[in-house]
Amino acid sequence: MLARTITHALVGLDARRVEVEAHLQRGVPGFAIVGLADRACQEAKHRVRSGIASAECRWPGVRLTVNLAPAALRKEGSGFDLPIALAVLAASRQVPPEALAGHAAVGELALDGRLRPVGGVLAAAEGARRAGLTHLLCAAESAPEAGLAGIEPVPVRHLAEAVAYLRGELAAPEWIPVNGSAFEPPCADLADVRGQERARRALELAAAGGHNLLLAGPPGTGKTMLARRLPGILPRLGAEEALEVTRIHSVAGLLRSDCPLLSRPPFRAPHHGASTAAMVGGGPGPRPGEVTLAHRGVLLLDELVEFARAALEGLRQPLEDGVVCIARAQGSAIFPSAFQLVATMNMCPCGARGDPAAECSCSPQRLAAFGDKLSRALLDRFDLVVKVPRPRAEELAGGPSEPSAAVARRVLAARKRFRKPPPPRTPGAEELLTRAVERLPLSGRGRARVARVARTIAALAGSEQVEAEHVAEALAYRSPTELRAQ
Ligand SMILES: Nc1ncnc2c1ncn2[C@@H]1O[C@H](COP(=O)(O)OP(=O)(O)O)[C@@H](O)[C@H]1O
Ligand SMILES: [Mg+2]
Repeated sequence: MLARTITHALVGLDARRVEVEAHLQRGVPGFAIVGLADRACQEAKHRVRSGIASAECRWPGVRLTVNLAPAALRKEGSGFDLPIALAVLAASRQVPPEALAGHAAVGELALDGRLRPVGGVLAAAEGARRAGLTHLLCAAESAPEAGLAGIEPVPVRHLAEAVAYLRGELAAPEWIPVNGSAFEPPCADLADVRGQERARRALELAAAGGHNLLLAGPPGTGKTMLARRLPGILPRLGAEEALEVTRIHSVAGLLRSDCPLLSRPPFRAPHHGASTAAMVGGGPGPRPGEVTLAHRGVLLLDELVEFARAALEGLRQPLEDGVVCIARAQGSAIFPSAFQLVATMNMCPCGARGDPAAECSCSPQRLAAFGDKLSRALLDRFDLVVKVPRPRAEELAGGPSEPSAAVARRVLAARKRFRKPPPPRTPGAEELLTRAVERLPLSGRGRARVARVARTIAALAGSEQVEAEHVAEALAYRSPTELRAQ
């Protein structure tokens, strides 16, 4: 006897339809899973067997073959447990096979038959809806996430519940759709940062224009503090963007069940020990890396120089293209990576450079090695480079600074102006830009980036034109050569 359930395998962020066929034959009892199933998927045998027993169903004591089709597609992970169990139960006629029509299924089984959530449910639900299916059987925790795709989730806490539902003995359990007020972790406020007017201004520009920002200066001056406060002044994501970000975090298994829809720009701050694969994505799967997890949000590289050079150079292509393509022998996956880079660094290995009150004790060799870590190509991609000096004593003793909420309002107003056609540059602005290309000198990319920053400055000022003073301010944030400590 044969029965079939539908589920999905992930290729990058894409869900591909997989048919789970269970075939019962007379013969020596046995259980085989075929169809390019990975190790976690093979282990489904044990979970499915215990799960079926715990649901007080009968294990068919015959020769059982489960095929995951198409056989050429790699199947990874434990999400195949539920569809395999349901296919086995349908093949042995313990649930009516016709009840599975219109349904897809995804979920991991515990040995006691409970259902555990897995990553990638949103992508799977979207795949199912596109294929014309109407229902998705999934863990109760995943139901709000599946509901975002416009499919009707059937939340299942235990395999027995799925069996009762398919037999028509139980109505589909209730689930609570996502509302706008999902839990969000609070972000630290800019009011805590004393002084640092120039760095604060650069942070505001970075937020308004999505520019890459590098904060450089002696230790303990508030660089990390400032960088961590950027998400707090960024506008919320639009509906489409929120779904896109949620899909990525779901595939990576990072979505929390109490926050099924991510509506704020993501903020990622990987440790400097991160490998190139962790940064840009990789593995046999392949899986999204930090640049993709930061898509439509912020990637903070705190202490930039401590990162492995290969990991940093790996960022150049995603920074430029907004996508990473990871090629594998089995096929390639394309991940989006339109993120904003924020980095902090000291200006020399001992940290004293740039601090008038301290004397740098670095040898020329150490300084040269330090400078070599950062390629000109990477530094060229920072639109805003700001030196963060030591705050003065009276600044540190002063009252709270302007709060994030006030800055966020200005950022939002500037973003609205970006929807209009770009404002023209005045002749004075044009001339200044042309002169800077020769004087600084600016690369072609550098010129385009200065022009973009000048546009952001004009938008924040509410100006209809990009004036010479806007270009002048934008040029003042470009000094990557100073940071190369040779
Ligand atoms: N400008 C500042 N305003 C208020 N507190 C500051 C400032 N700079 C540093 N601090 C204090 O010093 C600590 C370290 O700051 P941090 O941002 O980590 O420095 P770094 O520049 O080395 O990254 C902060 O947690 C904060 O308590
Ligand atoms: Mg720091």
